[in-house]
Amino acid sequence: MSNTTRRDLLKGGLAVTAGLAAGKSSAGIPDPLITQVQDWATYTGDGVDATPYGMPVEYESDVIRRNVPWLTADSISSINFTPVHALDGTITPQGCAFERHHSGAIDLPKEAYRLMINGLVDTPLVFTYDEIERFPRENHIYFCECAANTGMEWAGAQLNGAQFTHGMIHNMEYTGVPLRMFLNEVGADLSSQNWIYVEGADASSNGRSIPMDKALDDCLVAFKANGEALRKEHGYPVRLIVPGWEGNMWVKWLRRIEVIDMPVESREETSKYTDVLEDGVARKWTWVMDAKSIITSPSPQSPILHGHGPLVISGLAWSGHGKIVRVDISQDGGMNWKIARLGKQQGDSKALTRFYLDIEWNGDQMLLQSRAIDETGYVQPTKEQLRQIRGENSVYHNNCIQTWHISENGSVENVEVS
Ligand code: MTE
Ligand code: CO
Repeated sequence: MSNTTRRDLLKGGLAVTAGLAAGKSSAGIPDPLITQVQDWATYTGDGVDATPYGMPVEYESDVIRRNVPWLTADSISSINFTPVHALDGTITPQGCAFERHHSGAIDLPKEAYRLMINGLVDTPLVFTYDEIERFPRENHIYFCECAANTGMEWAGAQLNGAQFTHGMIHNMEYTGVPLRMFLNEVGADLSSQNWIYVEGADASSNGRSIPMDKALDDCLVAFKANGEALRKEHGYPVRLIVPGWEGNMWVKWLRRIEVIDMPVESREETSKYTDVLEDGVARKWTWVMDAKSIITSPSPQSPILHGHGPLVISGLAWSGHGKIVRVDISQDGGMNWKIARLGKQQGDSKALTRFYLDIEWNGDQMLLQSRAIDETGYVQPTKEQLRQIRGENSVYHNNCIQTWHISENGSVENVEVS
């Protein structure tokens, strides 16, 4: 088996087809799934009223958000992770998109929702949910990555699974109103040196200052994700979308926008979400999420179970600066690289890109890596390159190349190469 070629495999494929006709598997053994009437063909299935709102089939019940209990003191100010190792394509279903709350997910009915805009404006206004829905709306696909994604990996390979190392990310199609429309509506002072301060309705408020130019560029006041209302945990009924910028700025349960002439320097933009550098000095702000990628399969929670032969290596790449133009894959820890095939490119930049490399795996060990390159020409750095600038005491904004060790039996482990 170890020197199976694609030609041998195709021959095997033909044998499978011939076997099917005779009710036999490729090994020539009668296959009861083909030769016998199956149980499910003997009764009628569920009626259309059985699941008014569908859930994933029970056989996929392990494709769920998971948390790492020791990471946080409780589950209220905490994080769970998208099961990226088990998903494909680029859109994250809301039901398994990671959640990050500083004071829990609140219950906020549309009728009780209000958005206030004040500060350096001609007319401070308060909008109801219905009023927000009467502005012209747009659809855009964007990734949202928490600045802490991969944050446990600075000092060494830590968490054994793409879900845990890279699962603080989701990618949805949002429906919403460009923020600039609301700023125009209140007659805001749109000068470039101004800022907006955005707050949520939850107890943490998660207040953040955003430069006016970004507010006017592509920020969205969103009320739908993947076609349906935002889920409670993602900010129902209204959240802010700040494309390409760290997830913390994507304020959920958006309650107030104040136009100001200088940043507030709130907790979330000073003691949190800033980066300590090699020399111990903290860099003031890092808003844009630099280009990054991860091989989602094979990965520790998605080992190679089918033995030798064709293997689809698959992963995700993204950049807060725009489109992904190329992804390289190495099977030997970064010595040699092959160009991956990009899945269908989304119309939006600042969205996830799926990549694939279709190889013939003969059971050799691999040190699998992926490296993303975005439209600015920026190349995803190695861990070593990042550490030279950032040291090992950082938490946030770790976009280094990840290495998975694939053993001869197909199991996968999180490792570091130097
Ligand atoms: N907005 C409010 N109001 N409260 C919060 O706790 N968490 C922030 C941001 N917006 C937060 C918030 C953080 S740190 C991130 S990464 C994203 O929301 C996560 O969005 P999600 O829970 O929809 O994945
Ligand atoms: Co976050």
